[in-house]
This record gives sequence, C-alpha cells and structure tokens, in this order.
Amino acid sequence: MTGDAILLGAGGHARVVRALAEALGWWIIGVCDPALAAGAYWEGLLVLGGDEALDGRNPGQMALLNGLGKMPGQSARHRVQQVHAARGFAFPALVHPAAWVAPDARLGAGVQVMAGAVVQPGCTLGPGCIVNTRAGLDHDATLGADVHLAPGVTVCGGVHVGDGAFIGAGATVIQGCRIGAGAMVAAGSVVAADLPPGARHPRAGHERTAI
Ligand SMILES: CC(C)(COP(=O)(O)OP(=O)(O)OC[C@H]1O[C@@H](n2cnc3c(N)ncnc32)[C@H](O)[C@@H]1OP(=O)(O)O)[C@@H](O)C(=O)NCCC(=O)NCCS
Repeated sequence: MTGDAILLGAGGHARVVRALAEALGWWIIGVCDPALAAGAYWEGLLVLGGDEALDGRNPGQMALLNGLGKMPGQSARHRVQQVHAARGFAFPALVHPAAWVAPDARLGAGVQVMAGAVVQPGCTLGPGCIVNTRAGLDHDATLGADVHLAPGVTVCGGVHVGDGAFIGAGATVIQGCRIGAGAMVAAGSVVAADLPPGARHPRAGHERTAI
C-alpha cells in the first residue's frame, strides 16, 4: 500500500526514511519540523510547519512517516507516533526493497526496515522499531515497541529486546538473551547474558567499567 504521506522531522534519519519511502512509491507532500520556517524548502520538499500543520488535515487521506531518529534514552520518536496515531493518522510499516523480511514476520505500525536488513521467520517487531541499515534479526527474535537496532547490529535467534531499548552499531546479541526495556548496548559490543531493564552494556574492552 502506498499513497500520499507527510514526513515528520528533517534530520539525518528523516533523509533515510524519505529515501526508503520513495523507493516504495510513496508520494511525500511535505515535511513537518518546528525548527524550519513554513513555506521554505528542505531538500526539495515543502516545509509545512511544526506539528500544528497537521491540524485540519484528514488522516484518511495521508499517512505519516516518522523521520525522528532515536539515540539512547530518547523518547521523542515514540511520543510523536503515539500522539498522531491517537488522532487517527496511520504510520505504515516500511520495508526497503533491498531488505528481506520473512513472510510470517509480524511488523507493528511505523516499523522501518532499512536497506540490507534481514528479518527471519518467527520474528515480531513492535510499533515504531527501526531495523537500521544491514541489521539482522534471526529466527524468533522479538522486539518490543520503539526499539532501535543501529546499523549492522546482529540479533541472534530467540533474543527478546524490550521497549525503548537501543542497540548500538555493529553490536551482537547472542541467541536467547533478553535485553530489558530502556537498556542500551554500546556499539561494537557482544552481549552474551541477559541485560536488566535500563542497564547499559559497556563497549568492548570495558566490561568491568561503568559507562
Ligand atoms: C557506548 C556509548 C554510549 C559510549 O558513550 P560514552 O561513554 O559517552 O563515550 P565517549 O563518547 O565519551 O567516548 C569515550 C571514548 O571511547 C570511544 N568510544 C566510544 N564509544 C565506543 C564504542 N562503542 N566502541 C569503541 N570505542 C568507543 C570514543 O571514541 C572515545 O575515545 P577517546 O577517549 O580516545 O576519544 C557510545 O559510544 C555508543 O556506543 N553509542 C552508540 C553509537 C551508535 O550506535 N550510533 C548509531 C547511530 S544510527
């Protein structure tokens, strides 16, 4: 399903989401970002204004694309989707044509699967998750809501990642581990045991050092 859409946010993640949506055939009618002047152009897209630019628009006639990224501890991306979904706007799940998602995998609203990513059979991804460039989830892995797997992350079979967690670029989570809600895993590290909610897994070589 494609159609008209409005892009929310005008940063680096928004540029990737725009490329993803356009590769799928979505027509982006404009971008909302409170930091930009309404009527200006951002990368050739009309700036509609801040979120107030959605007032009076018919949610049945356009989808929203969440261009807000998510770094450790950030919640704005999730909040934006919750607020506008409650107003009736749809956030489509987007899978890049150069990604692979198994037919039985379940993707929540607003999930974004970037180029080169792989989602294997039996996986379930909660709303708003980002499976970034070249990240992979192996069989039966599950993500809660608003999880960000940064570029190149490897999530092995049967892993569970809780709501709002962030897994840094190139990290590996060994099969069966459970990552708690709101936890953060440093880029390039290997997680071989469960990580409690809100915990931070240190970068490689610093396993005995708090970060
Ligand atoms: C774990 C992390 C939060 C560490 O943050 P931090 O404790 O604030 O560390 P700092 O940024 O102060 O860096 C301290 C040093 O460690 C290095 N460093 C930081 N994170 C590192 C990592 N994951 N692996 C190896 N080295 C790292 C920095 O280059 C710096 O080196 P220097 O002292 O020689 O200059 C962070 O680096 C990280 O992994 N972030 C995720 C990045 C990511 O995945 N981005 C994807 C965006 S799509």
